[in-house]
Amino acid sequence: MGDLVLALLSGVLLALILLLSNFVPARPKHSNNIPYGSMGYWPFLGETLSFLKPHQSNSIGSFLESHCSRYGKVFKSHLFGSPTIVSCDHEMNMFILQNEEKLFQCSYPKPIHGILGNLSLLVVVGDVHKKLRNVALSFTNTCKSKPEYLHDIEKLTVSCIQSWKNKNEVVFCDEAKKFTFNLMVKQILSMEPDDPLCSNILQDFQTFMKGLVSIPLYIPGTPYGRAVKARARICSTVRAIMRERGKGNVGLEKRDFLDVLLSNTSISSEGKVSIVLDLLLGGYETTSTLMSTTVYFLGQYSQHALDKLKSEHRVIRERKKGGETLDWEDYKQMQFTHYVINEALRCGNVVKFVHRKALKDVNFKGYHIPCGWRVLPVFSAVHLDPSLHEHASQFDPWRWAVEEPVKNVAPFGGGPRLCPGAELAKIETAFFLHHLVLSYRWIIKETDHPLAYPYVEFKKGLPIEIELQDLSS
Ligand code: HEM
Repeated sequence: MGDLVLALLSGVLLALILLLSNFVPARPKHSNNIPYGSMGYWPFLGETLSFLKPHQSNSIGSFLESHCSRYGKVFKSHLFGSPTIVSCDHEMNMFILQNEEKLFQCSYPKPIHGILGNLSLLVVVGDVHKKLRNVALSFTNTCKSKPEYLHDIEKLTVSCIQSWKNKNEVVFCDEAKKFTFNLMVKQILSMEPDDPLCSNILQDFQTFMKGLVSIPLYIPGTPYGRAVKARARICSTVRAIMRERGKGNVGLEKRDFLDVLLSNTSISSEGKVSIVLDLLLGGYETTSTLMSTTVYFLGQYSQHALDKLKSEHRVIRERKKGGETLDWEDYKQMQFTHYVINEALRCGNVVKFVHRKALKDVNFKGYHIPCGWRVLPVFSAVHLDPSLHEHASQFDPWRWAVEEPVKNVAPFGGGPRLCPGAELAKIETAFFLHHLVLSYRWIIKETDHPLAYPYVEFKKGLPIEIELQDLSS
């Protein structure tokens, strides 16, 4: 009898061990070296809903926490309708991005194509991508080389900040969006902020953004359906402006980016419309999020950093006794401001991850990635990895005050698709901060955190209480 009980118990124990070994792997890789992981229970969706569950953008969220601790920094899953390798490993992420078009290729889910359009830079690959990317680069390089660009940033900053004069509260995200959007439409289309078309296009872009992360049902009235319609409206507005300019009417030549674009004979007219949309969207949404997260982290966590920032900008302002505008030299002097912006990018994770697919079977660091699988390099997990960054969850701009550049950060991606607007976003944020810290004190009014949806949003729009301050205080 005793033997029977013992045999039964051993059997149950063995079954348990076998069962558990299926879920809790002892080693990080399968025998065929495809990383361990779970494909989820839902047909098609797999684990997509848990992966997309909103969480504070300065944390990695419960999905990545549980999966990384169970399976390691590289694991398999089933996301956005495909078997997927998720990478939270910096070396693997860089390997993926640098091997674009060789081993991997940009591959955003099909429903996103429906909204961005088939000629969007995030959708096109190969030679078409190279051609359109060069146009985007020519835009960002021209901006950087024009003193008028810096003047425009400053003019819009001052006008935004002055409009707060009689207020004691503003919804910061709305203000930041208006500011970055007005700047982009000025650079690209020569539109002034008071042009009624400007606020219509901005409204359409906001509808467009909501559709990007919605359930892709093309039914009128759903966020996805509304986004597709909003895109069509923006396209037809841009086409109408292009037609007017194309007529060559006297006085219509503005010497803005649209003029440069219209003189380019190697791109189709739809390609031109698409690049305008890419630059407007890429240029305003992400930069305004960077500004909002910077204001949030400074207001919420770091009075010490805010004081240091103020003293840096006071010194710069004192050099400008005659009230001259900021220039490149000033920008270069904003050393602590750069630390603050870099740290806000690390903690705020404006872009959490990007989409790729494997073009071939790939082996890297002992892992096997099968051809055709989706691959997601996740930047936020690297930015917030405590084994790579000391006190990773803390907003600490001083971590950037080191001789060697801080490693293991990639807020703007990498490889042949590295963001062409990185420097523009930083300049805009730095100039805005200059006037903000010299003009106002602010406190974050209500608990409102940056949430990764996965694109970052503040639920209440980051309401802040503001108080005009004396420059000498
Ligand atoms: C904080 C601000 C910004 C962040 C965090 C950011 C982040 C990124 C990232 C991660 C990518 C790579 C996407 C991928 O590999 O799939 C990207 C691409 C891109 N970004 Fe940005 N971006 C920012 C600002 C801007 C600005 C200001 C512009 C334009 C003026 C811009 C235009 C673009 C364009 C056109 C691409 C596509 C590049 C290509 O596919 O070759 N971005 N951005």
